[in-house]
Amino acid sequence: MMIDNLLDGNLQEEDFEKNIRPQTLDEYVGQSEIKENLRVFIKAARLRNEALDHVLLYGPPGLGKTTLAHIIANELGVNIKTASGPSIEKSGDLAAVLSSLEEGDVLFIDEIHRMPRFIEEILYPAMEDYVLDIVVGTESNSRSIRIDLPPFTLVGATTRAGDISSPLRDRFGIVEKLNYYTTEELTSIILRTSKVLNMPIDLDAATNLARRSRKTPRIANRLFKRVRDFALVSGDKKIDYALTINSLDRLKVDNYGLDSVDIEYLEALIRKFNGGPVGAATIATSIGEEVSTIEDVVEPFLLQEGFVKRTPRGRVATDLAYKHLSIEKPSK
Ligand SMILES: Nc1ncnc2c1ncn2[C@@H]1O[C@H](COP(=O)(O)OP(=O)(O)O)[C@@H](O)[C@H]1O
Ligand SMILES: [Mg+2]
Repeated sequence: MMIDNLLDGNLQEEDFEKNIRPQTLDEYVGQSEIKENLRVFIKAARLRNEALDHVLLYGPPGLGKTTLAHIIANELGVNIKTASGPSIEKSGDLAAVLSSLEEGDVLFIDEIHRMPRFIEEILYPAMEDYVLDIVVGTESNSRSIRIDLPPFTLVGATTRAGDISSPLRDRFGIVEKLNYYTTEELTSIILRTSKVLNMPIDLDAATNLARRSRKTPRIANRLFKRVRDFALVSGDKKIDYALTINSLDRLKVDNYGLDSVDIEYLEALIRKFNGGPVGAATIATSIGEEVSTIEDVVEPFLLQEGFVKRTPRGRVATDLAYKHLSIEKPSK
């Protein structure tokens, strides 16, 4: 117990992520269509001894985009270099990563929709012809030089496919949308995490956790971690159903998997704005959240589960939302 404790203390979030992240397509749970497609494309690229075509992955946060990017590199047997859209501020930043690539490598750009437009334009010839055009010299005496790059694969990830310019989107040969996970899939992810972290969990407990994870692997793993803390503190050697229910109540995760921000959102929509229609930005302000959090994280799930509808005039609460919050719907 004491050694476990010590180890836990040293285990940083990053190590935790690395340990529980699947490394191969076989270990990657769910998203079967995407996996089958990638298997074929990866195999073909390897047979031809060419770089895999560029891949764009999109979908809500926590569904496995970063994980999949690493798996792609791993299955191709190449190195992965990573960057994120907002961190590439100058053309030199991009030039530096691009010129560090070796043949066949994967360049992973996370949040690719947040890359400045002029940087995007440097990416076009790099993606299309594996060349890098850079301007050297001073303003009065500048010239453009062209550098050849080795063939590489750009893997872009985004929560907002709609925010990607069409010239950029068109340069991806493979575009895949990640979907929310089923309870069975999340249960198997939780069971795997439980094994990796060496903390057993009963099947009914795992299933319950899965149901309450907003259909999202990251949340499933996060909740598992928290419940594991409760188990550790109460001296339990395994996680059972009662402990899970108890922990989730304390974490304010309701039986639908909605967390406190989801509930605040729905409460505001119904109580402050009479059920809508109201704009996302207005709701965000009223509950003190960033509009991007509301649009990228909160709303996709509430829309998918039918708590909210999107109309031309704004968001509207559905009957299910009223029912879930036990609020009588006013007759109009
Ligand atoms: N298909 C999957 N199978 C198993 N674990 C997954 C899967 N997708 C995501 N995860 C886990 O969920 C967490 C979040 O995934 P990540 O790739 O960071 O999501 P994203 O980049 O889409 O926000 C990671 O810890 C990863 O281990
Ligand atoms: Mg990610």
